[in-house]
Amino acid sequence: MSLYAIGDLHLHFQSECRAPMQRTERVWRNHEEIFRRNCARLLTEEDTLVLLGDHSWGRSLAQCEKDLEYIAALPGRKILLRGNHDMFWDAGKTEKLNALYAGRLHFLQGNFYTYGDYALVGSKGFCFEGPFYLDRKGRILGWDEENEARAEKIVQRELVRLRASFEAARAEGHNRFLMFLHYPPTSILEKRSPFTDLAEEYGAHQVLYAHSHGEARFHNSIEGNFRSIEYTLVSGDRLRWMPYKVI
Ligand SMILES: [Fe+2]
Ligand SMILES: [Fe+2]
Repeated sequence: MSLYAIGDLHLHFQSECRAPMQRTERVWRNHEEIFRRNCARLLTEEDTLVLLGDHSWGRSLAQCEKDLEYIAALPGRKILLRGNHDMFWDAGKTEKLNALYAGRLHFLQGNFYTYGDYALVGSKGFCFEGPFYLDRKGRILGWDEENEARAEKIVQRELVRLRASFEAARAEGHNRFLMFLHYPPTSILEKRSPFTDLAEEYGAHQVLYAHSHGEARFHNSIEGNFRSIEYTLVSGDRLRWMPYKVI
């Protein structure tokens, strides 16, 4: 029995792929089939796979049905986190999704799941991504401050949602946590953030995140051990579509 994680499948069986990178870069070529084969080889029905958001390019649930069916057909228990592109998923209506896919897919938002004696908690998270103003050598000279103020509001909302997940687990006696975010825990301007603070407050064992695509963005946030917590980027293209074994 194992726990695996990966993010950013960006499926589009019924919708249009809206990322140029996904249409041109080699790592994305036939990635649905490569990932399906890797899962079939690696996972058993006793395993758990956490998918860290950006499941589909569909703009509505109707446009995501085939993508969600593809995920449901993978081996093991599938737990899904919300990504910034998951427009089919209204955070306030997560219960409806859980009812619709009962026993087949598990949507993590404001609730928690368990794996062994760990509580699996999470939310989308957020971090400021610019635009940044650079000099000729690529050094940051400044950034869009209005956008930064907007980002701060989303960060605060996400912190409330993440804390609700921790508290739901704690209310049922859990004190060992694995924390999942879609966004990296820090922006490129930060060394630590309210998300790393929250992970520390609850003593999370590990923080897993996704969202960062392409070699140039793989090292934009914390990786490895930071203040006694392990941070791991598990975006699909980073992992070349091989699920990351957490436990
Ligand atoms: Fe993504
Ligand atoms: Fe994303």
